[in-house]
Amino acid sequence: MKAEFLGKPFNSWGCKLILFSPYPKTKRKELFDRERELREFEEAIGRGERLIPLLELRRLGKSSLLNVALNELSNSSIKIDVRKTYSEFSSVNRYVIGKMLLSAMSGRQRIIEEAKTFLERVRGVSVSGVRIEITSKEFSITELLEAPNDYGERAGRIIIAFDEAQYLRFGEATKYDGILAYAIDNPENLSFVLAGSEVGLLFDFLKFNDPNAPLFGRYHHDIILNRFSPELSAEFLRRGFNGGEVKVSEREIKGAIEELDGIVG
Ligand SMILES: Nc1ncnc2c1ncn2[C@@H]1O[C@H](COP(=O)(O)OP(=O)(O)O)[C@@H](O)[C@H]1O
Ligand SMILES: [Mg+2]
Repeated sequence: MKAEFLGKPFNSWGCKLILFSPYPKTKRKELFDRERELREFEEAIGRGERLIPLLELRRLGKSSLLNVALNELSNSSIKIDVRKTYSEFSSVNRYVIGKMLLSAMSGRQRIIEEAKTFLERVRGVSVSGVRIEITSKEFSITELLEAPNDYGERAGRIIIAFDEAQYLRFGEATKYDGILAYAIDNPENLSFVLAGSEVGLLFDFLKFNDPNAPLFGRYHHDIILNRFSPELSAEFLRRGFNGGEVKVSEREIKGAIEELDGIVG
């Protein structure tokens, strides 16, 4: 959908239409509803669940839900947008994902400071000041994950989230299904959230039902995002427009609900 309302581009409405901003949301107040999903997410982390696929069709607000949930929870978290990473590096091999994990940790002052002693022990990673780098072929992701895991021992469960996780299938020699299987069995303090809009592709890659696959039969707690019902869509539109003090008729709201079919994006 184009970023305009009633023929006016967004900017001329200023930032009042926060519910309608066309970018993934990051704050609770910008996110309409999704109470159940946020609660489910929080409870799953609270119970120490280690593998949480977050599923939906495109544009139902998966990235927004993930951002808000990670912001709301007190747990430390690391998020990687795997599609973006793949577009940038044309691969998501272990060096690429390792680099992203390290740079996501660097962004979190607390993790990097406290995990530094653990990171120094990881083969193939060098730490100097706040700079951490992959410096040799010995580098292994499973070893790297020990650092946030050890940090999590004191700080509480750490969430590692992969947005557009279906792109992890482009790991070349790096097999993320095997890495995930290891990482959900061994490091106790990590929870992995795998958000994916191409659900079929994500499940083809995870292969929970394939007896020969590393993740076969593993417990996973799926959080599924649905379309808004017509009632919720109406409330979303009314609230969104009134927040910007835009007058809209019920006929226009009804038309929009029919056209957009509960897809918030
Ligand atoms: N619950 C919500 N309330 C308000 N806006 C939302 C909500 N969920 C998604 N959006 C909006 O919908 C669009 C798509 O959301 P996004 O999180 O990028 O979806 P996805 O990752 O599923 O493609 C964005 O403009 C976002 O701001
Ligand atoms: Mg997204």
